[in-house]
Amino acid sequence: MSTSECIVVVAGSGGTLGKLVVEATLARARQEWRRVLVRGLVRREGGSAAAAAPEATSLTTADQRLVVVPVDYGSPEELRHACAGADCVVSTLQGLEDVIVGVQSGLLAAAIASGVKRFVPSDFSGDFRKLPEGSHRNFDLRRRFHEAADRLILEARSPITLTSIFQGGFTELLASGWVLFDYKKRQVSYFGSPDAPMEFTTWRNTAEYTAAVAMDPNPVPRALFVAGQRLSPKEAQALARRVTGAEFGLKRVMPTWLLGVVIALMKFFMPGKKGDVMPLWVGMQYGYCGALGLMSPARLDNERYPGITWTAVDQVVRDAFAASPAA
Ligand SMILES: NC(=O)c1ccc[n+]([C@@H]2O[C@H](COP(=O)([O-])OP(=O)(O)OC[C@H]3O[C@@H](n4cnc5c(N)ncnc54)[C@H](OP(=O)(O)O)[C@@H]3O)[C@@H](O)[C@H]2O)c1
Repeated sequence: MSTSECIVVVAGSGGTLGKLVVEATLARARQEWRRVLVRGLVRREGGSAAAAAPEATSLTTADQRLVVVPVDYGSPEELRHACAGADCVVSTLQGLEDVIVGVQSGLLAAAIASGVKRFVPSDFSGDFRKLPEGSHRNFDLRRRFHEAADRLILEARSPITLTSIFQGGFTELLASGWVLFDYKKRQVSYFGSPDAPMEFTTWRNTAEYTAAVAMDPNPVPRALFVAGQRLSPKEAQALARRVTGAEFGLKRVMPTWLLGVVIALMKFFMPGKKGDVMPLWVGMQYGYCGALGLMSPARLDNERYPGITWTAVDQVVRDAFAASPAA
């Protein structure tokens, strides 16, 4: 990569994670005294172009610059122009097949044509690679993108490499009362095994790590695994008791096979609106995949990049509990 200036393209820079990746890249460059140019791609039409990464402007200096680039993701020429000279393209796009397979493939093709060295796809989840097909609609799409990406790279004989960042669930989801901790019932609810670990990482830590990957001048593996905290349901129960001082129960909601049946029925009777990325049955598929016990990584790569302070889940649980009176 260029030592004089690192160029990072962030696709979806108006989205929740995209904005944070832009900010984190500018901040890391400043800490490391490196020159960086971030090109934040937003849809020219139909997107949130007006809201693109406004928080990042305060981090922009003469050496750490952000340029917001409105693009037509359907135009190979515009995408090639947006990727020109870049060291890394980070996708934080969200959507269904048209976006995760279609738009991301177009973006990767442009990155290949522009000689980009690294592509970070919009995976940002637990490691879905060993899950059986059909266990999660949105993970199936991501695996399909990886198959398409391998074909594109092979056909082009490109040296570009892909790096997926697997950070588990976002820690902030634990405040919802739907994921693991039921604050009203004072209960930790789970499917599968009470001892199976799950990984949780904050949005900010995920963005900080992504920025470090994007700016890494050295080769980076195909998959990196991080976690602000690893927790089994039993450990979650102990944590809830410790940080809230309240008695939390531990409840296996239903066996995994029954959850699979419930999801299939919901998919049939309550499919959700066309184009909905997260209908209820897809949300429940996270619980199903977690219960299969195939997503937790054997290693964590947190220490690969210095300068990231990993956030545990304690404060999220404490605050959410304080805001939820018992049922
Ligand atoms: N593991 C977890 O717990 C967890 C939770 C949430 C999300 N995630 C993952 O994190 C990643 C980012 O999610 P997010 O919540 O930040 O997404 P988001 O806020 O919805 O932003 C997604 C971005 O995708 C862009 N986009 C949507 N449709 C598009 C299209 N048809 N063509 C081009 N661009 C399109 C949007 O661009 P514009 O700005 O131009 O509108 C938007 O900026 C996704 O991979 C998601 O699955 C993981």
